[in-house]
Amino acid sequence: MQRIAVKTAGSQYDVVVERGSLDRTAEHIRAVVGERRLFVAADPGAWLAQGARLEAGLRGLDYTVLKMEGGEENKRIRQVEELAEQMYAAGADRKCCVVAFGGGIAGDVSGFLAASYMRGVDVIQIPTTLLAQVDAAIGGKTGVNLASGKNLIGAFHQPRLVLIDPSTLATLPEREYRAGLYEVIKSGIIWSRALFDVMALQREAVLARKPEVLESIIAESVRIKAEVVSKDEREGDLRRILNYGHTLGHALEAETGYKLLLHGEAVAFGMIAAGWLAEGAGVLAPDDRETIEQTIRAYGPIPNLNGISAGRLVERVGGDKKTVGGKVHFVLADRIGHVKVLSGLETSLIEQAAATALKLCSEASRPAERQPVMP
Ligand SMILES: NC(=O)c1ccc[n+]([C@@H]2O[C@H](COP(=O)([O-])OP(=O)(O)OC[C@H]3O[C@@H](n4cnc5c(N)ncnc54)[C@H](O)[C@@H]3O)[C@@H](O)[C@H]2O)c1
Ligand SMILES: [Zn+2]
Repeated sequence: MQRIAVKTAGSQYDVVVERGSLDRTAEHIRAVVGERRLFVAADPGAWLAQGARLEAGLRGLDYTVLKMEGGEENKRIRQVEELAEQMYAAGADRKCCVVAFGGGIAGDVSGFLAASYMRGVDVIQIPTTLLAQVDAAIGGKTGVNLASGKNLIGAFHQPRLVLIDPSTLATLPEREYRAGLYEVIKSGIIWSRALFDVMALQREAVLARKPEVLESIIAESVRIKAEVVSKDEREGDLRRILNYGHTLGHALEAETGYKLLLHGEAVAFGMIAAGWLAEGAGVLAPDDRETIEQTIRAYGPIPNLNGISAGRLVERVGGDKKTVGGKVHFVLADRIGHVKVLSGLETSLIEQAAATALKLCSEASRPAERQPVMP
């Protein structure tokens, strides 16, 4: 078992990474919040795949399962309202505790529900996708989408505990799993050469979801995010490094209407582009850029990006909500395991890097799922 402490200005909590911990959920919850009424907000896919284990693990505790809809289109304020109505109808008071069970969507919605129900109740995160285990469940960011854009309503609300059982990933669809692996590679590039090397050198074991390697890459990614978040809870300079690969990644997600790519796949593209940008700006050696690129592509391919315009992506970058004072900040690697934030980069350089990455992701890519297969 690995226990990683996250310290923020107002709170401190542990992230527990342990195979089989789901089967002992009650024990872990009791140790942190005691006997409380629990309200489990569960993503339907996660519930179908792992809900029986969670219920067995919760035995002995007083819990109510709330009805929740999955999918990005349901990550909306109306879902928060519906969940809150269910809680109120079931008699939830200020002392109850929300248990978020599922991927990043369940975590974001339930986290925001907990942040706002009766002006705030406790939340425990039990993430069941790789993306949520290494990223979304840690750091206290919660929220929902507006029709105008993603994550535009939200709050910082740190959980009391994050309980990660890597064995829940056994049922995660392959594509979701790979998408999460790109975020692990990201953590390696920004903070840990050792983690990056595991991803580069142990690809087979990682893809086979070998328990030991899985537990170690999750714990290491958590440690990195915990360290960054502990030093910088609210999006200051340091936390910005977690957005490595995300500037052009977000632009690509928006440009493709959030339909073609999973978030992690868009980040994979963004990291390939960031490599070319860093090389073009003279901060990253070509050999390192090549190593980064090969490692990312070894976990692919991502859907074909043929026909997407680099110019349009660069235009979108200007409108990203992470833009500060009209300047685009780019997190770029200057070596594997270390990044720095650069601002005021030439638009032409960004466009060139995006074009190169688009070209790479238009060759040797798998066709998008919804394209018909010719007989
Ligand atoms: N709060 C943050 O800091 C943060 C960070 C990154 C991403 N996010 C958010 O996370 C969301 C994406 O999260 P996601 O990628 O986990 O998607 P998701 O929550 O939609 O889960 C992906 C799919 O996997 C299914 N699933 C979940 N666990 C499963 C399991 N163990 N077995 C089988 N199926 C399972 C779900 O039903 C769903 O269909 C986005 O909305 C994004 O904005 C938030
Ligand atoms: Zn991300």
